[in-house]
Amino acid sequence: MFSDKDISHFASLETPFYFYDLTLLQKTLSTCADAAKLYNFHVHYAMKANFNQRVLEKIKATGFGADCVSGGEVSKAIEIGFSKDQIVFAGVGKSDKEINGALDNDIFCFNVESIQELEVINELAGKKNKKARVAIRINPNVDAHTHHNITTGLDENKFGINSWDLPLCAETLKKSPNLEFIGIHFHIGSQITNLDVYKNLCVRVNEFAEWFEERGFTVKVLNVGGGLGIDYHNPEQQIPDFAAYFKIFSDFLNVRSNQEVHFELGRALVGQSSSLISKVLYVKNGKKKNFIILDAGMTELMRPALYQAYHKISNISRVSEPNSVKYDVVGPICESTDCFGKEVELPGTLRGDLIALNSTGAYGEVMASHYNLRENIVSVYNTDID
Ligand code: LLP
Repeated sequence: MFSDKDISHFASLETPFYFYDLTLLQKTLSTCADAAKLYNFHVHYAMKANFNQRVLEKIKATGFGADCVSGGEVSKAIEIGFSKDQIVFAGVGKSDKEINGALDNDIFCFNVESIQELEVINELAGKKNKKARVAIRINPNVDAHTHHNITTGLDENKFGINSWDLPLCAETLKKSPNLEFIGIHFHIGSQITNLDVYKNLCVRVNEFAEWFEERGFTVKVLNVGGGLGIDYHNPEQQIPDFAAYFKIFSDFLNVRSNQEVHFELGRALVGQSSSLISKVLYVKNGKKKNFIILDAGMTELMRPALYQAYHKISNISRVSEPNSVKYDVVGPICESTDCFGKEVELPGTLRGDLIALNSTGAYGEVMASHYNLRENIVSVYNTDID
């Protein structure tokens, strides 16, 4: 995972920092692009997963579009050079300012999440003498079988328009002169590892596409969202099986000749390409517990505290020594949830050892905070190490 050169370079750097393996990122992106090309599928990168400049530049160069969830992300996508006709804008709470900004930039499409939002976009587009392209985000009530905090496609979730509201949605579309309906959008959750879930999604997408077509709408875009998971337990299993993932959609979606299939992948593209590198500040050996206290905490990597998420932890200063001691690995923040792992088996660890928290490329750096007035986290790139 880390070369000897990387590790000896790390020893000269101030910690903590995010280490990016841009070579692996490139390989992951190319693998995904090749797999998608086989079926002529369109991929938009879900920028929320990671908006690091160098990461975005590589993704843009691959030719993917951008899936944004805020005005800030739309602006960033444009600044990086993503083509405007490959930018989509989702989110349950788009403000008037954000909608106006996206209209001014003539982005490809708004993924609309409520009937009221349709009315607002129609009104704001009208004021600008524009026609806004919209896709309807439908809540398909499909269980993603993932952590409940990152499930989005069930009736009890706030996302999308529920099936019982579709007749009113169709009526609203028909009477909105400043909207151009282009298709339907879904996103049922994140870190999905059971691919069968996507078969269930395809069945629902087929039904909803049919529903709109029967009512005289042309469904040009089938946007099935993202959510493909990564293997956090085996970070060396680095590139997700994009071929198997896309094949499911090819096998189970009914795609008409005039239709395009769009994806919004985040985690699967960037997740394995980064690790958070931290140093051991203190080791406390107790009677009941041994603690390793790191110089990185929930302020740098929030996922374990927020979702009890697992990130594999390794002592990269002692790669050749056996895992012989159990530690609770914690951060320095004054919160009990500031814990990266309990009873983690590691080699006997000393102050100053370097610890890697693996698979942090998605929802890592972007979710860092300044709580406790912590300093900005820096990034290091493998391609800059010589
Ligand atoms: N499209 C939409 C509409 C989304 O809401 C999301 C993620 C994606 C695409 C990309 O999903 P992905 O392929 O990355 O699974 N912070 C959480 C994950 C939140 C995901 C939010 N939506 C975490 O750290 O696990």
